[in-house]
Amino acid sequence: MARNVILEAIAREMQTGVLVLDSSCKALYANPFFANSFPVKDAVEGRRLDEIIGNPALLDTVQSFLAGRNRAPEAIEISEGGRFFNVRLVPLRDRGGLTLLLFLQDITEEKRVETIKKDFVANVSHELRTPLASIKGYSETLLDGGMDDKNTLKEFLRVIDRHATRMSRLIDDLLTLSKLESHQMEIVLAPVDIKEVLLSTRTGFEKQARDKGIKIASRIPEGLPKVLGDHDRLEQVVVNLLDNAIKYTPTGGSVCLSAAAAGRDVRIDVKDTGIGIPASDIPRIFERFYRVDKARSRELGGTGLGLAIVKHIIQGHNGRLHVESAPGKGSTFSFSLTAC
Ligand SMILES: Nc1ncnc2c1ncn2[C@@H]1O[C@H](COP(=O)(O)OP(=O)(O)OP(=O)(O)O)[C@@H](O)[C@H]1O
Ligand SMILES: [Mg+2]
Repeated sequence: MARNVILEAIAREMQTGVLVLDSSCKALYANPFFANSFPVKDAVEGRRLDEIIGNPALLDTVQSFLAGRNRAPEAIEISEGGRFFNVRLVPLRDRGGLTLLLFLQDITEEKRVETIKKDFVANVSHELRTPLASIKGYSETLLDGGMDDKNTLKEFLRVIDRHATRMSRLIDDLLTLSKLESHQMEIVLAPVDIKEVLLSTRTGFEKQARDKGIKIASRIPEGLPKVLGDHDRLEQVVVNLLDNAIKYTPTGGSVCLSAAAAGRDVRIDVKDTGIGIPASDIPRIFERFYRVDKARSRELGGTGLGLAIVKHIIQGHNGRLHVESAPGKGSTFSFSLTAC
């Protein structure tokens, strides 16, 4: 096969943008990947680089190099049209002439993952630092003579215990999330009596609700079919949703657990008459560490991981998750699972 046919096929199929410039910074060639990444109205051939890419750092680097002021750098990172590219400059010299090859690799996804990782580490450090600072402060005060008074001792130890519990909950939740994400915590599907899961979880929250002056009701019809699911993981979903419903509902309010068959699915609703969630926050509440009101959630012992865990588990069941909420009116978190 002719060499140029092979080279053309490589340039056409490669997932890296290629732009070839002459010594006056005009384009000689661009491969399809480049043309798709930087849509210019007409063909790029014959156009100057600044008519194709508006990035000042890249223009400056290329122009300085072509003017003989600088050596071509190994690579430069640019952002253009909301995407990130790693641009490698390769000069070709031939019989005194100069041609510059630009290879552009789309690194938007790597950047996104990098940002998520950085945010995650920052969030975890912050969430651990807050209770740890309290534990340190209170224990130092006790060691500095605060232990002499029995009442102070007891009170401070309680605070230390509360913060230590909070830290261990955070670590448990992080481990659960990490196991779910890395598929180490397998979701084993089997027929689950969801009515039993809802009622036993409700029993576990009865005292917490009573202490806060909140009524819990349940509406589960007789003969509700079982669902295909993982018993313990589904229990975790109901615990997290019921915990939120009680936590974010003021005294005098109510929470209702209901379930109903809906076609080939069973739909479970956890409804409360609580503070509700502003519409602009709803798309974000399933993100790790996202809280509508950080200070309030933290005061209530929350770390913002409960709903991230719920989302993962429901996704692992191929189920559907839905929220309806209005500030001051209350929220309903619903999920559907396959009936069996
Ligand atoms: N039923 C609800 N009513 C009002 N706001 C809610 C409700 N459920 C969740 N939210 C909002 O969504 C946020 C995220 O919930 P999530 O369960 O992930 O975290 P958390 O409850 O703050 O902490 P954690 O669950 O780790 O104890 C909460 O901080 C709260 O702002
Ligand atoms: Mg929660």
